[in-house]
Amino acid sequence: MRSFEIFQIIAATHRSPIVIGLMVLSCFSCFAQKKKLTYYDHVEPIILKNCAPCHSPGQGAPFSLLTYSDVVKRGDFVAEVTGNKYMPPWKADVGFQSYRNQRTLSEQEILTIKNWVAGGMAKGKKSKNTASAVLAPKEKPDLTVMMQPYSIGTDNQDDYRFFNIPTNLPKDQYISKIEFVPGNARLVHHSRLMTDTSHMVRTINGLSANDERVSEFEKYPPIDKFLYGYVPGNFPISFPPGTGKKLHKDTDIILNIHYAPNGRPGQSDQSKINFYFTKEKAEREVFSLAIAEESISNKPFLIKANETATFYASFGPIPIDISVIGVLPHMHYRGKTFKAFAITKEDEAIHLIKIDAWDFKWQDTYQFKKLLKIPKGSVILIETTFDNTNDNPANPVTPAVDVTYGWNTTSEMMDLVLYYLNYKEGDENLEY
Ligand code: HEC
Repeated sequence: MRSFEIFQIIAATHRSPIVIGLMVLSCFSCFAQKKKLTYYDHVEPIILKNCAPCHSPGQGAPFSLLTYSDVVKRGDFVAEVTGNKYMPPWKADVGFQSYRNQRTLSEQEILTIKNWVAGGMAKGKKSKNTASAVLAPKEKPDLTVMMQPYSIGTDNQDDYRFFNIPTNLPKDQYISKIEFVPGNARLVHHSRLMTDTSHMVRTINGLSANDERVSEFEKYPPIDKFLYGYVPGNFPISFPPGTGKKLHKDTDIILNIHYAPNGRPGQSDQSKINFYFTKEKAEREVFSLAIAEESISNKPFLIKANETATFYASFGPIPIDISVIGVLPHMHYRGKTFKAFAITKEDEAIHLIKIDAWDFKWQDTYQFKKLLKIPKGSVILIETTFDNTNDNPANPVTPAVDVTYGWNTTSEMMDLVLYYLNYKEGDENLEY
C-alpha cells in the first residue's frame, strides 16, 4: 500500500490505534483460515455483481473493476471502502424498509473481500469469462431518443440546461422500462425527465435554467412532471408486469440536466433515453406524485445562515387505496436526514424511506421489494433535517447564507416522488 493511501484511509476513518491493533489481530485469524480464498472463486462474483455495473468503461465511476489486475491494483482500498460501507453507494436504511434494487454487501461478503486482501490476493483459476456477462449487450429498446449535442462550459460553474426532444410517437404507448444514458457520464450530474404534448415548449431547447425566458414556459405545465430522475447509479426503472407509465402520442420529452463541469475544454454531452414499451396496452397505469414545497407544514422554508433546521411535510389524506412501486427522495447539499412514512387512519405507520446520512451525490429511486399498499385516508409524512453551518463540509456556500426553497443547488429542496398504481387486491404480495 502506498503511504498516502494509508494516510487517506486513516484520515478518512479516524481509526484509533486500538482499532488498528484489533484489525491487525483479526487479520492474524484470517491468515489461519483453512480455506484459501481466491479471486476467481470467491471475490470476482461479488465484484462483478456489485461494483462492475458502475466501475466499467462508460459508467460513472472513475476506474474499472472488471479484471483481477484492476482489483489487485487497489486491493487495500477496495477492502477499506467495502469495510466502511462507502461502496457500493447505498443510502437508505434497509432495517427500516427493503428494496428490490438494494445495493448492499452482506457482512460475509465484506469479510470475504477483507480476508482475501489480507491473505495476499491469490488469483485462483479462471473458469469462465464472467466479466463479459456484465458488458453483454442489453435487450433492444423499442424507442431511443437523443438530445442535440451540447458543449459543456469550462468555467467550473454548475450548469442547469433544458432540452426538448420530440418523440414523434404515432400512438399512445405504455412504458415498462425506462433508461437514461448519459452521453458524458462524468459530467452529467443528474437529469430529470418531464413530458409535454402542447409542443409550445420546444424553444426551451438549450436554455439555461437561469434564463429569464424559462418562465414563459410555465404557462404549459408538463403532462408528467416527473417521468424519471437519473443520477449516477440510478439504473433503469422497470414497472411491474401488466403495468406501465403512459407516454402520449406525439409527446415531447423535456430534459432538465445538471452538468458539473470539470473545467477541461472540449467536453460535450449527447444523452439519450431508451424506452421499452409494454407489448399490449398496459392493464394498469403507473402514476407519479411529487410531494413538494406546497406540502411543507412548518413554513416558511427558511434555513438561516449558521443554523440547523428540521422541516416537516404532510400530504393527504389520500382519497383512494394506492400501491406504491418506489420513492425518490430529493434534497440538496445541506440535507442531512430524510425520513418518510405513511400513517393510516388506524395510526399504523407504513415505512417508506429513512436516510441517516444524506449525500447529494447518491440519489436513487428506491423500489420496494413488494408493492406497498397505502390505504385510503392515510397521510404521508416527511421529516428532513438540514445543516447550514460553516462546519458542514458539504455546504456549497461558505460563509453560510440564509437559504430558501429553489431549484438551484445553492438553494434547498425537500421533495418526495412516489410512483404508484391504484390498488388492486393481491398487490401487496406482488414481487417482480
Ligand atoms: C452506483 C455506482 C457504483 C457502484 C455500484 C460502486 N461504485 Fe465505487 N465509485 C463510484 C463512483 C461514482 C466513484 C467516484 C466518486 C466517489 O468516490 O464518491 C467511486 C469510487 C470508488 C473508490 C474510490 C474511493 C475514493 O475515495 O476515491 C473505490 C475504491 C471504489 N469506488 C470501489 C468500489 C467497490 C469495491 C464497489 C463494489 C463493492 C463499488 N465501488 C461499487 C460508483 C460506484
